[in-house]
Amino acid sequence: MKKRIAVLASGRGSNFQAVIDAIRAGTLKVSCAALITDNPHAYAITRAQSAKIPVVIVDYSRYPSREEYERALLSAMQQVSPDLVVLAGYMRILGGEIVRAFPGRMINIHPALLPSFTGLHGQRQALDHGVKVAGCTVHFVDECLDGGPIIVQHCVPVLENDDEDTLAERILHYEHRCLPEAIRLFCEDRLVIEGRRVRIR
Ligand code: GRF
Repeated sequence: MKKRIAVLASGRGSNFQAVIDAIRAGTLKVSCAALITDNPHAYAITRAQSAKIPVVIVDYSRYPSREEYERALLSAMQQVSPDLVVLAGYMRILGGEIVRAFPGRMINIHPALLPSFTGLHGQRQALDHGVKVAGCTVHFVDECLDGGPIIVQHCVPVLENDDEDTLAERILHYEHRCLPEAIRLFCEDRLVIEGRRVRIR
């Protein structure tokens, strides 16, 4: 039986598209059960519709409090009941209750070499810090922001004339490879979490 994933995305959704493309190409043998988004204007919705993937919109702006939003989001996620939740450009911090509902079954793509440059604007933080290599990380989600065990990383050079956009683009190219790869490893039951380390069998 193919494993089922749910993708959470808030905006452009190019990482989501990379997952769709890998499924289409047959390199990723999973079924994408839903796109769940907090943003009714996310371009990711258009991508889901073109790929005939069900869309669930939990519009953040329509809830009076973060707690109520998160309750609705958790219930939407539980209804989809995926084997794996994939955060692909989901731009909010998930509350502990949601994270605890999918232990070892939720992964995130981050545009920096963790544990450096957590949170927003990882690429800008890398430039500002003056590092010579940057990159991306796919990791399991735990209750620590961008802090869970690391599955896949890829590094790229930071070039002399880089600005945030050129660096982000260079990193994004590898995000689009690393995310489907991490999903594939998970869905083939090849990831073993041993403390902070993820062993690939
Ligand atoms: C990516 O850089 C991802 O690493 C970060 O947000 C960005 C989302 O881009 N979390 P996209 O929506 O997948 O195009």
